[in-house]
Amino acid sequence: MEALKQKIRDEGIVLSEQVLKVDAFLNHQIDPRLMQQIGHEFAERFRGQGITKIVTIEASGIAPAVMAGLELGIPVIFARKFQSLTLKNDLLISKVFSFTKQTESTIAISAKHLTRADHVLVIDDFLANGHAAKALIDLISQAGASIAGLGIVIEKSFQDGRALLESEGYRVEALARVQSLANGQVTFRD
Ligand code: G4P
Ligand code: NA
Ligand code: NA
Repeated sequence: MEALKQKIRDEGIVLSEQVLKVDAFLNHQIDPRLMQQIGHEFAERFRGQGITKIVTIEASGIAPAVMAGLELGIPVIFARKFQSLTLKNDLLISKVFSFTKQTESTIAISAKHLTRADHVLVIDDFLANGHAAKALIDLISQAGASIAGLGIVIEKSFQDGRALLESEGYRVEALARVQSLANGQVTFRD
């Protein structure tokens, strides 16, 4: 998606060979027009497949997921990273290890929002090693729902996430695929 790649070139900051900072439009300040275009692009790639729900994870997955949900006309569920006081009963729970933060966290969604009749599109802001994606897939599978694929805003293609997900048969659609962050430069894969 060219508009996204241009935004990354213009406003992304290469923090290291592993980490791209996009606080200017995705992870802190949000560019609503770009998010709308991102939602449109996800909808184009996944339309017509009987998708009934989008599942993402707080916080940064929510904006692109909501825009995709708006385009597809379906609800968006975001997994919570902690057990909130009002989210107690019938919880589906999974653990996710963050390579970036070197911590394990628990994520949860309420079972009442997902059933075996659902066909789910998973959306997230970044795909690195795929741990967050795997935990979301685990939650969706616990509900007995099926998975149409994963929509990722920024894939770091030099990490293992895509290979892991594709090896398990999942379709991965990334709107920007970063091949390298070497020498302070963002190089895209295509
Ligand atoms: P993984 O899920 O693919 O294995 O990735 P990892 O554990 O490394 O990701 C942990 C967190 O760091 C996630 O955000 C993920 O989106 C984010 N992340 C991973 N690589 C990058 C990167 O290069 N740049 C930026 N900006 N973020 C990256 P989170 O902890 O869930 O936070 P939130 O932003 O959703 O609140
Ligand atoms: Na993030
Ligand atoms: Na995320």
